[in-house]
Amino acid sequence: MGAGKAKGAEEFVPAGADLDTLRAASCGCHGCELYHDATQTVFGEGPADASVFVVGEQPGDREDIEGHPFVGPAGRLLDKALEEVGIDRDTVYVTNAVKHFKFEERGKRRIHKTPGRTEVVACTPWLTAELDAIHPELVVCLGAVAAKAVLGPSFKVSEERGNVVFSDDYRVVATVHPSAVLRAPDRDAAYKGFVEDLRAVRAAMDAG
Ligand code: URA
Ligand code: SF4
Repeated sequence: MGAGKAKGAEEFVPAGADLDTLRAASCGCHGCELYHDATQTVFGEGPADASVFVVGEQPGDREDIEGHPFVGPAGRLLDKALEEVGIDRDTVYVTNAVKHFKFEERGKRRIHKTPGRTEVVACTPWLTAELDAIHPELVVCLGAVAAKAVLGPSFKVSEERGNVVFSDDYRVVATVHPSAVLRAPDRDAAYKGFVEDLRAVRAAMDAG
């Protein structure tokens, strides 16, 4: 299947299903070519009554192997930052815009490749089904891929980060991706900015 020819996840998503049914069905998704080289589908996790719904980009190397979202270095940074603003990771639903790991092999290493718009669009039916099942109060987008998946391709994280914005159905706060914090030349400053954006999430939760 060539780039741009993804048929999309739609036909694999059971209508009106609960989270467990969706998760089970997602294991068989062939909505784009990414299932082919990845180890497994990494579906979202967290309580079905979560009021906060966090969206990342796609599983990384660790997540692909373990089958759970945000369990690698980016996940540890996310957990720490959430804790710092008083949000317990266990109360939050955490998922990704794209459910399979996209990578390039370099020797023995698998190097993350940013998913393209085609893959994001192909995978969106899963994200929509998760949102429909959970009905969160607040959606938190980590990085540009997540933000564009939720708010549309013209959304700019650099201009809107930390602001409460509205999608059709949800209040949304977008911020940078924790992996970008880990890669930043000034990691302390980048981490501070990330925590500050999450404080806006906390404030929006408290405001109800
Ligand atoms: N980065 C993401 O965007 N999601 C994960 O699950 C892990 C790393
Ligand atoms: Fe399906 Fe998404 Fe995986 Fe593509 S990335 S095969 S659309 S679950």
